Amino acid sequence: MGSLPMNCLLLAFTILLQINGFHGCIEEERRGLLEIKTNFRMMNGDTMLLSWIHGKESNCCNWERVTCDPTTGRVVELDLNNLHISNTLDTPDYFLNVSLFSPFKEIRILDLSENYLRSSANTTGFIKLVHLKRLNLAFNWFNNGNFKSLSALKQLKFLNLSQNNFGRLLPVQDLSALWNLEILDLSYNKFKGNLSLQDPISFKNLKVLDLSDNNFMGSVPQIIGLMSSLSALSLAYNNLTGFLPSKEPKVPNLSFYCSRRMNGWIPSI
Ligand SMILES: *[C@@H]1O[C@H](CO)[C@@H](O)[C@H](O)[C@H]1NC(C)=O
Ligand SMILES: *[C@@H]1O[C@H](CO)[C@@H](O)[C@H](O)[C@H]1NC(C)=O
Ligand SMILES: *[C@@H]1O[C@H](CO)[C@@H](O)[C@H](O)[C@H]1NC(C)=O
Ligand SMILES: *[C@@H]1O[C@H](CO)[C@@H](O)[C@H](O)[C@H]1NC(C)=O
Ligand SMILES: *[C@@H]1O[C@H](CO)[C@@H](O)[C@H](O)[C@H]1NC(C)=O
Ligand SMILES: *[C@@H]1O[C@H](CO)[C@@H](O)[C@H](O)[C@H]1NC(C)=O
Repeated sequence: MGSLPMNCLLLAFTILLQINGFHGCIEEERRGLLEIKTNFRMMNGDTMLLSWIHGKESNCCNWERVTCDPTTGRVVELDLNNLHISNTLDTPDYFLNVSLFSPFKEIRILDLSENYLRSSANTTGFIKLVHLKRLNLAFNWFNNGNFKSLSALKQLKFLNLSQNNFGRLLPVQDLSALWNLEILDLSYNKFKGNLSLQDPISFKNLKVLDLSDNNFMGSVPQIIGLMSSLSALSLAYNNLTGFLPSKEPKVPNLSFYCSRRMNGWIPSI
């Protein structure tokens, strides 16, 4: 008789274990997150990521800025936007070690924007994050050495590289390997030279393209007229001349177009 509550307790305990077994975070990823925290903490003191704590009983899927897939328990999203990494004159530059993200085999969304990160030279680390669909690196110090590695991310739909240190000619070949891209933001960089987009087939899924605030020159590439999915385009604040292929139906879906002297998005027609 007296064993009934005990049985219940055991049962509840077993169920709890099973639930945790299904939904708890994967050990490799838990350790990976803590390593990221240790790495970032060198720069920002102890004020961020307070829920990321040691101890196996702490389920990393419940940590702030972490999202797991409810069935597999694997991390699918990391929001590491604006971690207040101080990059003032008296602190050394923070170099991102992209290998820190390799434990996350199923990560789909990664936001590292607004951290003033530098990349360790021409890192190839991004190559491993093959499942990424959205990558936000805006407001950092990444440079052209990262493009080869980024071009491996074939599933990317969203790529924000705004406000970084990219320059020289647009690496069209690397970018056009990303043929699933729907949104590409390259604004506020130092790209220069003729704006050549070559093969419009590669950009056939592109809906939003922001090339504003660079130093592109020459004429507006007429090939833009063949990008049938494009609905928003900004070429503002460059040194481009000429106009888009103007008459419909050449750019059938373009509803927002911002040309060189204009500030902000405006309807194209
Ligand atoms: C980068 O991170 C990986 C994984 O944590 C580590 O093995 C490697 O030593 C790190 N590299 C550098 C240069 O810190
Ligand atoms: C990095 O780039 C430099 C030149 O910019 C090159 O000499 C070097 O081999 C590259 N390293 C890697 C690992 O790709
Ligand atoms: C890219 O990031 C910048 C800075 O956070 C933001 O202003 C911009 O709207 C983003 N672009 C897109 C297309 O979301
Ligand atoms: C840029 O394009 C113009 C024509 O629009 C051409 O005359 C010039 O040679 C090109 N410059 C380079 C560096 O490709
Ligand atoms: C582009 O416009 C055509 C006709 O207006 C429409 O059928 C098509 O779905 C649009 N494509 C996209 C990607 O919006
Ligand atoms: C803009 O391009 C013209 C030639 O097309 C050139 O003469 C001028 O110096 C360029 N301006 C800037 C700011 O690069």
